[in-house]
Amino acid sequence: MERYASLKSIASYVPKRCVKNADFEKILDTSDTWIQKRTGILERYFASDDQNSSDLGAEAGRIALERSGLQTKDIDLVMVATLSPDYLGMPSTACLISAKLGIRDRPAFDITTACTGFIYLLSLAKAFILSGTYEHILIIGAEKVSSVLDFEDRSTCVLFGDGAGAAVVSASCDKKNSIVDVHISSDGTYCDLLSTPRVVRQSHFLKQSSLSPYLQMKGNETFKLGVKTLANDVEKIMKKNNVSSEDIDFFIPHQANLRIISAVGEQLNFSSEQVVITVQKYGNTSAASIPMAMNDIYESGKLKNGDLMLLDAFGGGVTWGSALLYFGG
Ligand code: ACO
Repeated sequence: MERYASLKSIASYVPKRCVKNADFEKILDTSDTWIQKRTGILERYFASDDQNSSDLGAEAGRIALERSGLQTKDIDLVMVATLSPDYLGMPSTACLISAKLGIRDRPAFDITTACTGFIYLLSLAKAFILSGTYEHILIIGAEKVSSVLDFEDRSTCVLFGDGAGAAVVSASCDKKNSIVDVHISSDGTYCDLLSTPRVVRQSHFLKQSSLSPYLQMKGNETFKLGVKTLANDVEKIMKKNNVSSEDIDFFIPHQANLRIISAVGEQLNFSSEQVVITVQKYGNTSAASIPMAMNDIYESGKLKNGDLMLLDAFGGGVTWGSALLYFGG
């Protein structure tokens, strides 16, 4: 019997504190009008001081598990994508989430591919399942991006939000419910477009560092490269799989900027009903943005078992990717 990988459930967690554009007007030289016009963002949510990415991820993971009908003991692997881990280096956010969910004696690790995180996780989950290594995998994009934002830099801090999205990917024999194809890529020569530099401690052996530990982005260059790369990548995956825009039920792009989403959506001839847009209410939640958007259409009753979704993302590294999959929930 053929073996496939299927996305069995989707869930998200949004922290409670809602921050409106007008709240930034009080601390920065910016305006609600500028933010809305240039990004489409109206508001975003920030985690509380005592909440970290692992807390947000564990909440989303718990719901994804419940919705899959599985128990913690059934999960063979936990993978987390984040650019805002609880700890620098170790322990991984995946280990912390596993502990919070009661998943023990199972592999758990993080990946660092910024906003493309969820698509990289899908690619890994598919490969682990098709190789016969695992049956059920919990994948999570969890971000407390606010923990790496410089709230004095108006060109970045107004763009991002916190949140988490999670999914269970399981082995299946049903092609009509499976992950059809995932494409991932990167180009490190563009590493200076988006970064969270590491603070180098002053010592007798090192010169003083002038690096900022906060997220930095060359917004305009990233914008142009993002639009070009995404449109090409999505066209390629559709052509390779002999799929046209009419075959797609939902196009779920990474939610960084409404202008990028509209430019790519128009270039690919998607109607407004097909394009899922949540950037206005969550901002850019990096690796959590695609699963949060997918969960929105699931919870509103639009996303049904067997619907064909097309995902795409672009982020720091730079990294990018696209995925074509049927919803198996
Ligand atoms: N309020 C008011 N003015 C602002 C603000 C603000 N919050 N931020 C920047 N400006 C000003 C700039 O200083 C500049 O002023 P100047 O012309 O006097 O120099 C002017 O607005 C225009 O700035 P640009 O950067 O050229 O504006 P742009 O239209 O490119 O929009 C934005 C900026 C929203 C960041 C856009 O470039 C963008 O969305 N880029 C892509 C983001 C992205 O996709 N990132 C990848 C994923 S994220 C990840 O991986 C973590």
